[in-house]
Amino acid sequence: MKQVVRKAVFPAGGLGTRFLPATKVIPKEMLALVDKPIIQYGVEEAVASGIEHVIIITGRGKGAMEDHFDHSFELDATLERRGKKDLLEVSRGVAALARVSYVRQKDPLGLGHAVLCAKELVGNEPFAVILPDDVIDAEVPCIKQMIEVFNEKGGSVLATQTVEGPAISAYGVLAGSQDPANPRIYNCTGMVEKPKLDDAPSKQAIIGRYVLTPRVFELLEQTQPGAGGEIQLTDGIRALLKEEKVFGYTFEGKRFDAGDKFGMLQATVEFALKRPDLGPQFREYLKGLKL
Ligand code: UTP
Repeated sequence: MKQVVRKAVFPAGGLGTRFLPATKVIPKEMLALVDKPIIQYGVEEAVASGIEHVIIITGRGKGAMEDHFDHSFELDATLERRGKKDLLEVSRGVAALARVSYVRQKDPLGLGHAVLCAKELVGNEPFAVILPDDVIDAEVPCIKQMIEVFNEKGGSVLATQTVEGPAISAYGVLAGSQDPANPRIYNCTGMVEKPKLDDAPSKQAIIGRYVLTPRVFELLEQTQPGAGGEIQLTDGIRALLKEEKVFGYTFEGKRFDAGDKFGMLQATVEFALKRPDLGPQFREYLKGLKL
């Protein structure tokens, strides 16, 4: 029987050290991109892709995310009393976005470990993984594109983007061959973590979107801690590759690494320029800067 992708796991248990001191108290996932916390972009992408159940992996000091996707009684009552209908809709809309469950990752033991924390809630069905740091601007939501590939190919799908030059060394890189029928799809044969430019098996860098079969949970349970004492998701997927087909997919759209200061600045400029309420004024402001 064909299985539908209904659940999305959002690993958000990391410490966000690249964004200190902003992330000393505030979870990285709650940093605002224009006026929305970055995790909300990912949740909206999931909902627009047909996901019914969002599972957020949280950690110590990350309670703000739970409050964000819940009703805020005092705020809503005050907005109602003041007749601020538009803002009330915004506030209530966030709480109504999706069915959200939370699992605490007691120690930040790595991305693979964070995904494994969702095992019971996901159960025996394929699921999406969305890294909230990676904010993707796309006409068709990225995870929707990937679910379509999953449905067509029947194997796990990893989102990739083409990276030229030495920047490839910051990523996990896909080995494999392009699908003759669809150049966006790669038949994956392996993965190399952060290779030197000369050792990179392709220009396809793995980014923060995955559609995975549930077998990966059992394989992650058997995965020993790798680099930095962390359980790596890529190690689990490498084990999956020995048993099942895995595909790379060069998504259509633009990705921003909002967990990084420079990436957040780029995203802020581009998202603000696209906003009908802010774009024209912001464009004029930028034009006036002596650069
Ligand atoms: P990152 O390495 O980008 O996030 O992990 P980080 O550790 O929070 O940030 P820096 O590098 O210190 O600035 C990628 C994703 O995996 C999650 C993070 O929250 C992020 O969304 N993650 C990472 C976990 O949920 N648990 C972990 O143990 C590690």
